[in-house]
Amino acid sequence: MGELGICEVGGDGVVGNFLGLGIGLSQIGEMIPSDLQAMNFPGLASFEEDDHGMIRLAITSPKANAQIYLHGAHIVHFQPIGVAPVLFLSEESGFVSGQAIRGGIPICFPWFGGREGYPESPAHGFARTMDWEVESLSVDGDQAILVILKLESNEATRAEWPHEFVVRCHVFVGMWLVMLLEVENTGESEMTFEEALHTYFAVEDVREVLVRGLENAGYRDKTDGLASKMQGADPLRFTGETDRIFENTAAKCEIEDGVTGRRITVNKSGSLTTVVWNPWIEKAQKMKDFGDEEWRRMVCVETANAGVNAVTIGPGQKHSIRVVISPGPSPSP
Ligand code: BG6
Repeated sequence: MGELGICEVGGDGVVGNFLGLGIGLSQIGEMIPSDLQAMNFPGLASFEEDDHGMIRLAITSPKANAQIYLHGAHIVHFQPIGVAPVLFLSEESGFVSGQAIRGGIPICFPWFGGREGYPESPAHGFARTMDWEVESLSVDGDQAILVILKLESNEATRAEWPHEFVVRCHVFVGMWLVMLLEVENTGESEMTFEEALHTYFAVEDVREVLVRGLENAGYRDKTDGLASKMQGADPLRFTGETDRIFENTAAKCEIEDGVTGRRITVNKSGSLTTVVWNPWIEKAQKMKDFGDEEWRRMVCVETANAGVNAVTIGPGQKHSIRVVISPGPSPSP
């Protein structure tokens, strides 16, 4: 059994059958490297090239459809069969090397927001703008898909951050989306990092949305010079730009869309920070890769470890953060 509770099955047999049908790999995708083509499970999970020349894993299983880019290990689409898409993706997003995709689930690592003391460093770290490797792709008996992507320290990461690491992102696509980010310190000194699964949820109208689970929690307000504040006893509602870093909270959150009645649960472990963000009108207008009106259709509820919850691990140690996203009832993480 794999770490997420599914059996790991190699792709060779399926590819063998596929080849047995007399279809040559060169016809599957001209630009997809042969090692990735060999991992495909035709009809369920295949690597493909998008219109911008970027490689993504397209999942079309009996459980859900999903798309995951190697660029940033970035999930841009998750839609269990029979329900509306769970993630928001901006129509203005660039799909360009070196730039983060706007929407879906960017991975922030090894820092969250601006890097303290390094104003020239990229916001939210470098993980979301780098190409990740595919370590494995597997299918369980229930036809849920597990893909593991990997980012290792290299010359480019060392130029930004002087640490040796391996980060693995496990993505499980079934009726629920499970994402596990495991950071391993492969160097010889301690390392401290921040991280976030910066999830953009699709909603009909953010003004009709409630986020439950953060009642009476403390937060730092990024719209007010990081002032320390307390959330009241009521669920969080949106009436203007919202950018709150809730610290020391392991709570499960529920996003209730008042227009559709849908309730998405965000159930996490290994994370003590939850960030809630909506840019509202003015900030949306200033963002080049975001439509002026798109603020209405999204809300970010981010599973993170940031600020006082930054993580320190010694040589050889690992730390994992996990989230289970469900448009209906979900299992415990
Ligand atoms: C949120 C931050 O997590 O991400 C916001 O709290 C920020 O302050 C937002 O504006 C988007 O960041 P970026 O770098 O993707 O534009």
